[in-house]
Amino acid sequence: MLEQAILLEAGLVVDGSGGPSWPGDVLLAGDRIVALGEGLRQRLPEGIVPAELESIDCRGKVIAPGFIDVHTHDDAIVLRDPLCLPKISQGITTVVTGNCGISLAPYRTPEARPPLTLLGSDSFQHATMAEYRAAVEAAQPALNVAALIGHTTLRFATMDALDRAATEDERARMGALLEACMQDGAHGLSSGLFYEQAFAAPAEEVTALARIVARHGGVYATHLRSEMATIIEAMHEAGDIAFSAGAPLVISHHKCAGPANWGRTLETLPLVDALAQRQDIALDVYPYVAGSTVLREDLVDGVIDILLTWSDPHPEVTGRMLADVAREWGVDQKEACRRLQPGGACYFQMKEEDVERVIAHPRTMIGSDGLPHDRHPHPRLWGAFPRVFARYWRERRLFTLEQAVHKMTGMTARNLRIADRGLLRVGAMADVVVFDPQTIADTATYDRPMSASVGIERVFVNGACAYLGGEGEPEVRARAGRMLTRA
Ligand code: ZN
Ligand code: CU
Repeated sequence: MLEQAILLEAGLVVDGSGGPSWPGDVLLAGDRIVALGEGLRQRLPEGIVPAELESIDCRGKVIAPGFIDVHTHDDAIVLRDPLCLPKISQGITTVVTGNCGISLAPYRTPEARPPLTLLGSDSFQHATMAEYRAAVEAAQPALNVAALIGHTTLRFATMDALDRAATEDERARMGALLEACMQDGAHGLSSGLFYEQAFAAPAEEVTALARIVARHGGVYATHLRSEMATIIEAMHEAGDIAFSAGAPLVISHHKCAGPANWGRTLETLPLVDALAQRQDIALDVYPYVAGSTVLREDLVDGVIDILLTWSDPHPEVTGRMLADVAREWGVDQKEACRRLQPGGACYFQMKEEDVERVIAHPRTMIGSDGLPHDRHPHPRLWGAFPRVFARYWRERRLFTLEQAVHKMTGMTARNLRIADRGLLRVGAMADVVVFDPQTIADTATYDRPMSASVGIERVFVNGACAYLGGEGEPEVRARAGRMLTRA
């Protein structure tokens, strides 16, 4: 049978394993990688004839597995805006949804309440993972979707009040919902104990759910109960939950937030190494010193800079600093924060040295944590992955090119149980990115956050050319993404 074949010729092959790169070719046919090596044109596999071959000159370019964004809140946007330009233009070919305890499925409600509104307030229409899967397949997004199931979503789906622990009966119902999602191929459980709607949940409530995930070979990812003063206790809690459940642990967007905690990655990273002696543990991170979430008074300390990303009562302040708005109104920042709610912000709450230590850690994967529904989003939504190359590889040399790619591909696929992706191997799915290592860079800034990265030349998803970068307007072509199933 003749399939469409594409020969990526004479590039630098960085295969996603973290091992050394080599100059050569990668041959795609149908939705798979069918050959790797030097001078492939001279020895094409049977069934592929030179006349039918599309060949792409990759001299001076890197050929790598498509990037996997391990930390996203893209659950609803892949349905609503299936071109996924902010992500595909970074070379991302798979997004992991459902992070921080917040997943679209399994929950149906006409008007979602915070923090579920992170995914849009009118998006919750999928009572099961099977329904969500069908919706993704119908939407045909440009990239693949791997779903985590959120603990907070499960609480909303089963409890009438969230300021308390779940009862035996509610736990059983959460467990049954999660069990069905895992049978339908979900990749694991996420929690966001930091958020008010989950904070009252004791560790045992989460452990019981993590046990279900472990039985299916899934992972447990968590936005810790605290990333500030009590972060060490929160890390122990997360470690114990995952360990006693028997699930691999992912600590989400690792950071030491707030000036009082700057420098404390010198404590947290050694703790990660210590926990790694007894259990499977990984981290993810976005490469910026500002975090972003909903407007919260407890994060307004009068010290750090806070940039407003949206506000329902005052949309006109979007993109301005909270301090300036407060001064104009003649009130303190906490009062201004109260008046602006519900809303969102970027909090400049981290120290560069901490960010660098976390990014450089051998167990750290890259995740954008982008918020696609924000009016003036944190620039990580459009720029996180290219920024790792531009700033932390090319400029700061925190790691090798091969390690940078590994943190976005092979390491992530292994940790998240994503089969046949994340590595350039014969027989693997043809998710591939071609980029220019000298020019790849983010262009999204806090002032102009919605701006496509440069240096991403071509992106292939399941063998189809999904994105063409370079000169002119960036262009999404094929929408060949799939809903993935846990390995
Ligand atoms: Zn989070
Ligand atoms: Cu998040």
